[in-house]
Amino acid sequence: MVFAIYKNLSEKAAFSVRKTIFAVINMETDFMQQIILSEDLNTTLADAIARCGYDKLFVLADSTTARLCMPLVEACAPLREAHLIVIGATDEHKTLQTLSDVWTELGHNGGTRHSLMINLGGGMVTDLGGFAASTFKRGIKYINVPTTLLSMVDAAVGGKTGINFNGLKNEIGVFNPAQAVILDTAFLKTLDARNICSGYAEMLKHGLISTEAHWRELLEFDLRDIDYRRLQALVAESVAIKERIVKEDPFEKGIRKALNLGHTAGHAIESLALEQGRTQLHGYAVAWGLVCELYLSCKYTGFPKDKLRQTIDFIKSNYGVFTFDCKSYEQLYAFMTHDKKNTSGQINFTLLGDVGQIHINQTMGKEEIFDMLDFYRETMGC
Ligand code: GLY
Repeated sequence: MVFAIYKNLSEKAAFSVRKTIFAVINMETDFMQQIILSEDLNTTLADAIARCGYDKLFVLADSTTARLCMPLVEACAPLREAHLIVIGATDEHKTLQTLSDVWTELGHNGGTRHSLMINLGGGMVTDLGGFAASTFKRGIKYINVPTTLLSMVDAAVGGKTGINFNGLKNEIGVFNPAQAVILDTAFLKTLDARNICSGYAEMLKHGLISTEAHWRELLEFDLRDIDYRRLQALVAESVAIKERIVKEDPFEKGIRKALNLGHTAGHAIESLALEQGRTQLHGYAVAWGLVCELYLSCKYTGFPKDKLRQTIDFIKSNYGVFTFDCKSYEQLYAFMTHDKKNTSGQINFTLLGDVGQIHINQTMGKEEIFDMLDFYRETMGC
């Protein structure tokens, strides 16, 4: 059953994506986050820090970003006085133990309710750091400086924070926006091809939920020979799409569920991969999840077959395939039943009637899900 349909979302409130700063404010909820497209990271970060006001400054990085990205903010004067907290890299460390370690470091190094934290890293750092900041002394301010494409276009933007718990991704967390999110695409050149592809899957999702023109330009982009100027413009457009949705529905009561496209199946594939010791980058799982959920869209909400085919071709050629056989169906289904987005035990999907035509709260039973998995295996050739 369709509870809500949002047509041609991006036409609802057009705004420029080329502006340097755009603030997202929801007057009813006070949910405010400043997104800054930076061309000069050190100056932009210093200005954002100065606007916050604080007594003690902390920087959270993981072992990789501490090594590769800290040097890029060396010239930011306020950071010279900051206390650096370094946590393990990768999602394995997005745990209660790491969170507790961060709280401990904040407490032992003069953190107060008026302190400020800078999260420098990918989605793991911005999610965990955002949660640590949101809970320490009942909440301190924080700024996100995302260093991966995935965190620039998704994780660091929109105020979702959290950690994994009991084997479930982002099981514990709060909605609480950063004071500012600073996007500097210079970091993109530090990323390998797989990490670019991973973030790009979220951009493709933003294309599918926005306009045909944006979806088409994303399919035309060559991920094997990256034009970084072009990528920068696409990132700006992608972030603007997410921000517009978050502004309308910061706490995911309605239209923000559009951002879950590809994620119900995608998270299940990601969890299966993890369980089988074949860990996949999040965006790859989202790309395969899009194959599954566009099939459901085609079957139940009228998504055009030719657009399904074009999107699948792009995904197959850039992301390859995650293989599984029918013995994994029960396990994939079980993972989907644990999804946070479900209500009353029903598995909840966001589907599309066309590019930009969003149908949230589409529930599916086991039979439909097994049929979707059959389609995935057939079409991806596994
Ligand atoms: N990653 C989806 C959202 O922020 O709502």
